[in-house]
Amino acid sequence: MKAILCTHFGGPDELEFKDLPDPAPSPGEVVVAVKSAALNFFDTLIIAGKYQFKPPFPFSPASEFAGVVESVGAGVTSVAVGDRVLGYGGYGAAREKIAISAQRVVRIPAALEYDRAAGLTVIYGTTLHALKDRAHLKSGETLAVLGASGGTGLAAIELGKLMGARVIACASSDDKLAFCKQRGADEGINYASEDLKEALRRVTGGKGADVIYDPVGGPYAEPALRSIAWQGRFLVIGFAAGDIPKIPLNLALLKGCDIVGVFWGAFIERDPAGHQANMADLVRWAADGKLSAHVHATYPLADTPAALKAIADRKVMGKVILKP
Ligand SMILES: NC(=O)c1ccc[n+]([C@@H]2O[C@H](COP(=O)([O-])OP(=O)(O)OC[C@H]3O[C@@H](n4cnc5c(N)ncnc54)[C@H](OP(=O)(O)O)[C@@H]3O)[C@@H](O)[C@H]2O)c1
Repeated sequence: MKAILCTHFGGPDELEFKDLPDPAPSPGEVVVAVKSAALNFFDTLIIAGKYQFKPPFPFSPASEFAGVVESVGAGVTSVAVGDRVLGYGGYGAAREKIAISAQRVVRIPAALEYDRAAGLTVIYGTTLHALKDRAHLKSGETLAVLGASGGTGLAAIELGKLMGARVIACASSDDKLAFCKQRGADEGINYASEDLKEALRRVTGGKGADVIYDPVGGPYAEPALRSIAWQGRFLVIGFAAGDIPKIPLNLALLKGCDIVGVFWGAFIERDPAGHQANMADLVRWAADGKLSAHVHATYPLADTPAALKAIADRKVMGKVILKP
């Protein structure tokens, strides 16, 4: 089988496109023929050795995928050969076939295409955990989303609307904001051309957003927090801008607000039942068309470096999918 391999930490162009022997399932595992593998921002970090988790070499990037169960190991009863599934393994899906624990795959309905299913787990799983379990977002509240056209941002727009919130999309270009409005955002703020704190105050009539979803960090986190509503919740999702902001704690005091950490990778280990319940909802909503899992572009497996560069260059709206 063909595979993209990271043999040492470096940039996308240092990845190798190789032939490997087909995998066989160990007890408790399945082998899935990968039809679509999804990339996330953190794949740009994991190949560079800049991510919190460093897989042993050689490894393939792409943490999530969708495909068909090709073989099952001893003791596997939850899925069968021929089942359509999606899965999440943390890394390892940029290849034609993946061997993975049967507990890490979920059957998907016929109405859910492989390309949309592949990218469902990380961005929507993180965001449902963030908005429901961490922020306790309520219908009628206002949700501001930074990096709103990116993967997690798009998920926050769509899940925020499903939960009954008024959603303010914040992004760096008018094209990105037009995309966010197509996906359901009520308002748009271009933080490349407008002061974010003043704009958030303006579109909320001076009150501020009840919940702020921040996967970007850098220069945007503090201005957003300075505009938050009384007793609002500021969700710390990630730092796509590179810099981890240092926040003056008096802001939390003055706003009576919560600064809430979100660590989905730890949540799924600590609360597997909660994660499975969230995934069941997400798969159903995606199959029913309530979540877009919008595919920005698909790339042949061999072009994984170009796909990773598009993410790092801030060019992607929604998901980037690899086709083995
Ligand atoms: N906490 C968790 O459990 C968890 C789970 C999943 C992901 N994350 C993290 O969340 C962050 C976003 O992930 P994602 O998959 O949504 O990424 P993405 O699809 O690449 O979107 C990130 C957005 O950040 C903005 N951005 C600002 N400066 C950037 C820069 N220098 N480089 C790239 N993007 C920049 C871009 O929007 P504009 O151009 O509009 O600014 C972009 O659309 C990452 O840091 C990821 O590691 C955290």
